[in-house]
Order: sequence, then C-alpha cells, then structure tokens
Amino acid sequence: MEKFYVTTPIYYVTMKPHIGHAYTTIIADILARWHRLKGEEVFFLTGTDEHGSKVQKAASEAGKNPQEFVDGVVEFYKQAWKALNISYDKFIRTTDDYHIAIVRKFIKKLWDTGDIFKSKYEGWYCLPDETFIPESEVQDGKCPYCGRAVQKIQEDAYFFSLSKYKDTLLRVFSEDERFVIPKSKANEMVSRLNGEVKDLDITRQSIDWGIKFPIDETQTIYVWVDALANYISALGWPDGEDFKKFWPADVHIVGKEILWFHSVIWPAMLISAGVPLPKTILAHGWWTVDGQKMSKSLGNFVDPVEIANKYSVDSLRYFLIKEMPVGEDGDFSESALVSRINGELVADLGNLLSRVLTLVDRYKGSISGEIEVDKELDIEKVSDMLDNYNVTGALEEVWKFIRSINKYFNDKEPWKLEGQELSKVLNNSLEALRIISILLEPFMPSTSLKIKEQLGVGEEKLDKAKFGQFRGKVKRGENLFTKVNAKV
Ligand code: MSP
Repeated sequence: MEKFYVTTPIYYVTMKPHIGHAYTTIIADILARWHRLKGEEVFFLTGTDEHGSKVQKAASEAGKNPQEFVDGVVEFYKQAWKALNISYDKFIRTTDDYHIAIVRKFIKKLWDTGDIFKSKYEGWYCLPDETFIPESEVQDGKCPYCGRAVQKIQEDAYFFSLSKYKDTLLRVFSEDERFVIPKSKANEMVSRLNGEVKDLDITRQSIDWGIKFPIDETQTIYVWVDALANYISALGWPDGEDFKKFWPADVHIVGKEILWFHSVIWPAMLISAGVPLPKTILAHGWWTVDGQKMSKSLGNFVDPVEIANKYSVDSLRYFLIKEMPVGEDGDFSESALVSRINGELVADLGNLLSRVLTLVDRYKGSISGEIEVDKELDIEKVSDMLDNYNVTGALEEVWKFIRSINKYFNDKEPWKLEGQELSKVLNNSLEALRIISILLEPFMPSTSLKIKEQLGVGEEKLDKAKFGQFRGKVKRGENLFTKVNAKV
C-alpha cells in the first residue's frame, strides 16, 4: 500500500492560533485527506513547540510556570484543529517524554559523527524568531526578518558544523526539482547557500526551559534543533515501526520564513545522522489582514475559530485555499470572505444542489440516461495538481466543473422537460454532484458529507468518482450555505 507522511510546523504555544497557523494546517489536512481518498496509508503530524526563551518569556508574563502555561495554551490548538475539522493522526508536544529522549539520542548521534564542537557565541539573537542573527545582517538593532529588536548574547555554546554540508546541500537543490517547492523559494535558499554559511549554535547557556544537552548538562538544546527533530521523534526514530513505515516524509509544509531551517539546517543534521532526507518541503506565503501584517501591537490577529463559528468551517477552508495559492502572499478580509461565500459557495454550489434536488422531488419517475457531462471534468488534472501540492489549482478545477454543471442545468431548462429527457438531465446532474462530493471531501469535508447525505450515497473513495447510473436515495435537506446579507 502506498504511504504518505505529511507534517505541519509545530507551533509556538505563546498564544491562540490565528489564520496563518490555520492556513498551514488546512493545507496539510487537504493533502492528508486526498491521499486517504486515494486509498493510501497516511500519517498526518501536527503539534506544538513548547520550549525556548520565547515560550519561557510568555509564561513569565502570564505569571505562570512554563509547564503550567504550555499545558493551558496547547488546548487552544487542539480545540481549534477540532473546530476546523483537522484530521491529524498524531499531535506531538515537545515536552512529551518520548520526544525529549529521542532529541537527546539524535544529538548524541551528531556528536558521534564529529559534527559538534564547543566554542563561544557572541552576537545577536532575535527572541520572537528564536534565531541567531549575524552582525552583518542586523539593521539598526533590528532583526532583518521580522523587524523586531535583537538582543546581544555572549555565552559558551556548542556548534553544529553546518558549513561542512554546504556543497552537499547545493547538490541536493540542483539535482532534485521537488526538494523545495515552489521554485522561486528554492532559488532563494540556493542563493543564501552560495553566500557565507556559518556553523550553527545549537545550545543556550542562559535558557533553562528546554531539553538538557546530553554532552554537557549545563547547556540547553537550542529550541529549533529540539523542534525540527519532532518530525522523526513522532515516528519513534530510529527503531520505531512508524519510522520504518513512514520516513522519509513526503512533505513538510512550512511558511516561507522558516524555510531555511527546514531546507538547510534540518537536512544537514539528517545527513550528519545518516537519516534520509524528506522528499519535499513546501513553502507558502504570508497572510496580511486588511492589508496589514498581523501583530501584537495592532491586535489584529484573526481567530479562525471565531470566523468558522460565524460563517461555517468550510467557508473559511474554502476561502483560505482559493484566495492564496501556495507560495504567494495574500490578504484576509471579511468582505472578501463574504463575497466568496455569496458569489461562489451559495451561488455556484449551494444553489446547484438545491435546484437539482427540488426538481428530483417533483419528478416521480425513475432516473436514468446516458452521460453527457463527463467531458467537463478533467479528473487527471485535479489529481495531478493535488499530487504536486497545487491545492488552489485543484480546487479551481473542481469549481470549473461545478460551474459547467450549473450551465448545463440552465441550458437544458429541465423544468420544461418531461419523461426520458428530464430523467437524463437529472441523472447527469446527480452523478456530477456525487462526483463533486467526492472531490470536495479533502477541501470541505463537512459540505461533502452534507451533499452525500442529501444525495443518499455513502462515503466513497476516489475510485468511485466515475460517471454512471445514479443510485442514491435522494433526501432534500438544508441549504449548504447561507447568503450573508450584512455589510462587513
Ligand atoms: N515553532 C516554529 C516552527 C517549528 S517547526 C519544526 C514556528 N512556530 S510559529 O508558531 O511561529 O508558526 C509558524 C508557522 O505559522 C509558519 O510556518 C507559518 O506556517 C504560519 N504562519 C504564522 N504567521 C503567518 C501568517 N501571517 N501567514 C501565513 N502563515 C504564517 O515558527
């Protein structure tokens, strides 16, 4: 049986998830559901990054000890993923004992390879990004990536020989087109690799909230090394059954700001430890909200659960995927969301189902007839796009099909037809809707289920997405989506 292993980044538990976190997780969910739909065995991993100075600081600001603090915040993530219908197979927390043990084992492995050495770190650190910033990159005392103030640190530290892997990594990038998608983001990494690559500080002396460094227990493992290892600790590296079955990962999904960690630092450590590389790292862009970056100072974080409660989960899932193709940046606004709900979800899909089912209700005869709408759907194209992580393109293809069935239904004017002619139009429309319900499952699982219930068909895998004789027992239900009238 084919296997598919997909991961999200593990999120810092400093605050509730916002739509940026939801976006990454929804893409992963779509891919996991798609591969399950194809009948594959899927492992979908998500979780939380709970150590390090950023979390420690947030805990102390909240007046809690770090463990108590993370135990509280992690619940926001679990609840959000439940509300958004995220079908993860495992939720990892970096404070889990098994993870801690495996990270220490992983570090020992790098040490045994001779890739770790002791030195001193003297330089800058961006706390919100948990990133060491070279002197040459600091801009007016600020982090070049996030624009926030950096702090000077000076401490004994252990380093990983990242520079040693520069050429090997450049080769991986040039030989494997799929190593980083999209290409533009791969190019950015290659040009950075072609510049100076420094060895990486992998311990912190002044931070307690973390995993003790096994070579020198006075040091704490740098939070990024701890975090990256989650992708293999979750599978029980090196001997776990899941590790043997699912590694290497098919795809790590990440935001563009953490691509260097995933496509350079993580692979270098894996090569050092003798572990095969992930097949693909998929980098996506950033959401702004009403044209502005989301930030604490603006207080403009959009809570995905609130949006889902207000408009429906599937409206949010649909909007995020349709609005921002993977790799590009996008803007979130409630007015854009509402216009997609009214103009696409209600007008294209909701109305189609309700119009077809109204007519079926009225028509008492048996439904059958030759298929004439199959040419409107290029299922191979949808499939190819999803296999190549183009979730937006695939959803657009499905939508084209929905629109073509609307047009077919309008053009045929079945309300004026009778007998066999009517029966045929209904058979075509119902079969199209059944296939739409299968193809929409990864994107909008609860809408897909509602369509199936109204069509009176069961859960079906992709191999049933073929036109034929409609066999469901139709039962009209509520509208799939509600038109939003209020101005937002
Ligand atoms: N803990 C690290 C990841 C470790 S993975 C081994 C981290 N966590 S995070 O909480 O900051 O979440 C980062 C992820 O959230 C990004 O990769 C990105 O997927 C997502 N986003 C956070 N803000 C975002 C936007 N404004 N827009 C889109 N996604 C962004 O980094």
